[in-house]
Amino acid sequence: MCGIIGYIGYDEAKNILIKGLKTLEYRGYDSAGIAVYNPDYNQCLVSKCEGRVDKLESKVADVKGKSGIGHTRWATHGEVSDTNSHPHKFGNVTIVHNGIIENYESLMNTLGVASKLKSGTDSEVVAALIDKCYEKNPVDAIISSVKKLRGTYALAIMFDDEPDAIYAVRNVSPVVCCQNDSGCYIASDIIAIAEYCPDYFVLPELTVAKITKDKIEIVDFAKNFVEPEMSAVNWDIKNSGKCGYPFYMEKEIMEQPDVIRNTLHKKLRDNIPDFSSDNVDESIFAECKSISIVACGTAMHSGLIGKQLIEKNCGVPVTVYMASEFIYCEPIISRDTLVICVSQSGETIDTLEALKYAQRQDAKILSIVNVRGSVIAKLSENVIYTDAGPEIAVASTKAYTSQLVTFYLITAKMAYMRGCFNSEGLSSFMDELKKVPKAVEEVFSNKEKIHHIAGSLLTAEHAFMIGRGLDYPALLEASLKLKEISYIHSEAFASGELKHGTIALITKNTPVIALMTQKYLASKQVSNIKEVQSRGAQVITICTTSLKSFATNDFIELPDMDDEFTVIPAVSVMQLLAYYVSSDKGLDVDKPRNLAKVVTVE
Ligand code: M6R
Repeated sequence: MCGIIGYIGYDEAKNILIKGLKTLEYRGYDSAGIAVYNPDYNQCLVSKCEGRVDKLESKVADVKGKSGIGHTRWATHGEVSDTNSHPHKFGNVTIVHNGIIENYESLMNTLGVASKLKSGTDSEVVAALIDKCYEKNPVDAIISSVKKLRGTYALAIMFDDEPDAIYAVRNVSPVVCCQNDSGCYIASDIIAIAEYCPDYFVLPELTVAKITKDKIEIVDFAKNFVEPEMSAVNWDIKNSGKCGYPFYMEKEIMEQPDVIRNTLHKKLRDNIPDFSSDNVDESIFAECKSISIVACGTAMHSGLIGKQLIEKNCGVPVTVYMASEFIYCEPIISRDTLVICVSQSGETIDTLEALKYAQRQDAKILSIVNVRGSVIAKLSENVIYTDAGPEIAVASTKAYTSQLVTFYLITAKMAYMRGCFNSEGLSSFMDELKKVPKAVEEVFSNKEKIHHIAGSLLTAEHAFMIGRGLDYPALLEASLKLKEISYIHSEAFASGELKHGTIALITKNTPVIALMTQKYLASKQVSNIKEVQSRGAQVITICTTSLKSFATNDFIELPDMDDEFTVIPAVSVMQLLAYYVSSDKGLDVDKPRNLAKVVTVE
């Protein structure tokens, strides 16, 4: 959480920093700040404030200088305030930090600086530490300082007496770097600086980058030069704004048909799933005796659907774990277990820790990741990239869909390799999967109706969702979407489970969304709908055309397709439903309260 940025070159730093911070705001939006070296004062001048980057921008009109660093914060240690905003300055040293310094209190005591630090953060002490270690050699000071840190960090550092360079160092938390004729750039995410140069590299962990206006030099902690591994942006930079949509979330929902087509295009050869472009050792699919899927939030919900698909089609037992619980619940995994870690950002600390735990148990690892070069991707033996493109809205939509498509592809590959699908079975599965983008487009053509139905949820305080089979994990995701962006308390239940307690909460006019796409479960779902209706619930049915006769008055229709594939169009409908509720309530859809897109704290 938190985003950092840095620039040094021939242009005004402020403009580049502010623009980049706006893009990085998805990482946290409690406060923002920049430090720019001002030659008239021979020092870095810090401007920072609680609130969004827009507010900061209005305060920095007069800031001048050609080098600087910036930060957007998601508060962990210390309240949301001007003082706790970054950058932090101590003596000669100014820093911005993304991560958590676990031993900040003991460092403060050892250095004897407690009374001099102004903020309540875990970060400010790092500026003090580097300042104390500084003997006219910035790289030495940085190396000896970060060796004393416990925790995670991406740091951008400036020294008042060395105005021609900025420095960066990282452990776990990301830093990417790029350069053009106008200067050199660093950021937490390439999306903040890609417009300046599409070729970039991820700063290797535990190395220090010295960034001057014409070059970036990297050394490891033994001061050996390190050659970085270059990457190129693989999405259309021109398409990275809101492109006329009021919010990124709507744009990202609407991108889903193309994202699915793109994934299928990249991962199919002769109509057979093929992960060789990602260098996946495909024997893992044939050899594993069990699978553990580990992820958080939306990514975990994709895993719950993956579980049903794999168990049904491949006969391999699958357990889905919340990554935050995984290492504490003594999971039964061994070298015969395939552990699949799912993460859009590739940075989620709980998923990362689970991955490391699984590696210690000798399990085979496959990660499904969207962000190339992210720490989870780097650490995994096998990675399937979802390539959904940058997802900016905090609420995940297209990344989730691309994770689902990846699970369909893994299922098909595994079933084929294990002889559960013959060639015909495989082609009919793939043919059905290829119909999904069109089905999603069809539901989007009905968006007026979805918008209209969203109106009935605007004043709701609570909502319930019920479904069976694959519909149930799809509703867990739908319910999370509604909660996080509309602030309506929502719970999804397996329909048969509701009457074991929770039905007590259904009273007159309680909204209940009933998803019905599984024909073989329709009659049971209809009974469950009647049960809540007879307690006064207002039921909105989302169902396929062939089940329309069972729908309630308020209903949204999904195109008919094989039951196994309907969850993707169904979730797309419910993403839009949540979106309309949030936007019609006048909420900040892309940046819901208290959240950040990248969760790097346990
Ligand atoms: O980056 P990750 O996929 O690892 O993030 C995991 C969750 O934090 C994430 O899926 C979260 O639940 C969504 N942003 C909610 O929409």
